[in-house]
Amino acid sequence: MSAGAPQGKGIRAANPDGAAHSTLAAFRNPTTQDVPMTSPQTWNAQLYDTSHSFVWQAGEDILRRLAPAAGERILDVGCGTGHLTARLAEAGATVIGIDSSEEMIASARAAFPAIEFHVMDARTIRLAESVDAIFSNAALHWIPDAGSAIRSMRGALRMGGRLVLEMGGYGNIATIYRAVQHSLDDLGIPHAHVPKFLYFPSIAEYTGLLEANGFEPGFARLFDRPTVLDGGTAGLRNWVTMFKRPFLDLFPLTTREDFFRRVEDECRVTQWDGTCWRADYRRLQVVARAV
Ligand SMILES: C[S@@+](CC[C@H](N)C(=O)[O-])C[C@H]1O[C@@H](n2cnc3c(N)ncnc32)[C@H](O)[C@@H]1O
Repeated sequence: MSAGAPQGKGIRAANPDGAAHSTLAAFRNPTTQDVPMTSPQTWNAQLYDTSHSFVWQAGEDILRRLAPAAGERILDVGCGTGHLTARLAEAGATVIGIDSSEEMIASARAAFPAIEFHVMDARTIRLAESVDAIFSNAALHWIPDAGSAIRSMRGALRMGGRLVLEMGGYGNIATIYRAVQHSLDDLGIPHAHVPKFLYFPSIAEYTGLLEANGFEPGFARLFDRPTVLDGGTAGLRNWVTMFKRPFLDLFPLTTREDFFRRVEDECRVTQWDGTCWRADYRRLQVVARAV
């Protein structure tokens, strides 16, 4: 895809300092925070695009479920570096991408200057007008405070509008996650204090949350999607470096080799096939209507 090619028009985001959109105000609940507003995970946009493009390439499937139509107003929540937002714009939709990471939004703006992007948290969306559809790929599992994100998205959608999402689901990356924890334990690195920064719900849990907050789920599936990691023998450590930042920040660089070797040793039997590493991804896809 050529940089800046899509020509979607933007939807005006509300002035962040101005009054909230009235429907948003009705749904927002600022009192439910038992997780920090700022996630301990940080994002390296360049590393994401050069070594982890499989994330948005795998998003083509959920994009088809959305079936964006020309003229629709669509919000991409947790848009990252904007590649799927650009695909929405190519379909002729009027799009806006939001993401809480300044670095990801800067990269998206540079790659797709014709598209409107904003640094905005999914839990506190403010748009000047409601949208016809919300799309989200591989972002909502980064928000443990799922209820706030769902209420915020509901407030941004018109009545009858659709929410089409894919995220990590129950059991996602369980093998790798376990190996990371064991490796930290083996090295005597305390990690219990790291705030919960991931959320992998079951179908029942997530659709229940949607129903409790103004959505009618019409489709949901949880499925295994073993995913080849870029980088050959270094694939697993590259992935851990990108997506498990809060754990790497617990110890000095000199300990990294020991840490990675332990993670790789534990994962090798099930996740390495002699040529590449595979992450044990399990994805949750949901389509719901605003009611
Ligand atoms: C794995 S990336 C996926 C990006 C993009 N949707 C894609 O398919 O390439 C996850 C994104 O979720 C964003 N994110 C995490 N927490 C967020 C929040 N509370 N509000 C908005 N975006 C968030 C991150 O900044 C990151 O860009």
